[in-house]
Amino acid sequence: MGPSILIAQNLSKVVPSAEGDLTILHELSLDLKQGDSLAIVGASGSGKSTLLGLLAGLDLPSAGTVTLAGNDLGSLDEDRRAQVRAEHVGFVFQSFQLLDSLSALENVMLPLELDDRPDAREHARSLLERVGLGQRLSHLPRQLSGGEQQRVAIARAFAADPAVLFADEPTGNLDSHTGERISDLLFELNQERGTTLVLVTHDERLAKRCRRLIHLEAGRLVTPLEP
Ligand SMILES: Nc1ncnc2c1ncn2[C@@H]1O[C@H](COP(=O)(O)OP(=O)(O)OP(=O)(O)O)[C@@H](O)[C@H]1O
Ligand SMILES: [Mg+2]
Repeated sequence: MGPSILIAQNLSKVVPSAEGDLTILHELSLDLKQGDSLAIVGASGSGKSTLLGLLAGLDLPSAGTVTLAGNDLGSLDEDRRAQVRAEHVGFVFQSFQLLDSLSALENVMLPLELDDRPDAREHARSLLERVGLGQRLSHLPRQLSGGEQQRVAIARAFAADPAVLFADEPTGNLDSHTGERISDLLFELNQERGTTLVLVTHDERLAKRCRRLIHLEAGRLVTPLEP
């Protein structure tokens, strides 16, 4: 395993609410090495998506620091954080966030084109084939099933060969066979390219395949259960 790629120190997130300030994440720390895999598990509302967003630099903590590929995210402005994300991070959102007016192929090509890759189309096509969507290239998101949209989102997240792939419930909308295929693919990339995986999941089989596992309860880390 390589050097540290993702370090969180005493991360907290406090949000205002009608009943006063609500702490949704309490002083969480972790250190992830390049090529590692981490499952984040816990009940609905325990803070998993919040943590993922902070680790990926999509959101800023109320206190604490995140260092991603050597960059202290809290010290960067929005634009610079976006650059760090574009360079090092793939993200699969719980709600996919595909662009509605672009086809499956175009959605996956987008990060490659932003990266000036001359083989954007071919590479995007091969990724979509790998997630089993070779026959759906020209479909718009609304013409795809939920599980198919999820697979496009996964292909898009892989596209720029990120150092860290963050995925929020990557198998959440998939039947168990397709889920297994996607899970195989995630771990193939982890092996082949040393992509660090950070996965939020309710899928026990997927969680068990990760080398490390943390369990959140009401925003706190409960005893880490090593798989
Ligand atoms: N911006 C916000 N303002 C107020 N409360 C928030 C905000 N974001 C999240 N929360 C609250 O923080 C808690 C954690 O939310 P989060 O989305 O991280 O949960 P989760 O573990 O991902 O749940 P699920 O499994 O249902 O996706 C929830 O109770 C949620 O209502
Ligand atoms: Mg969530």
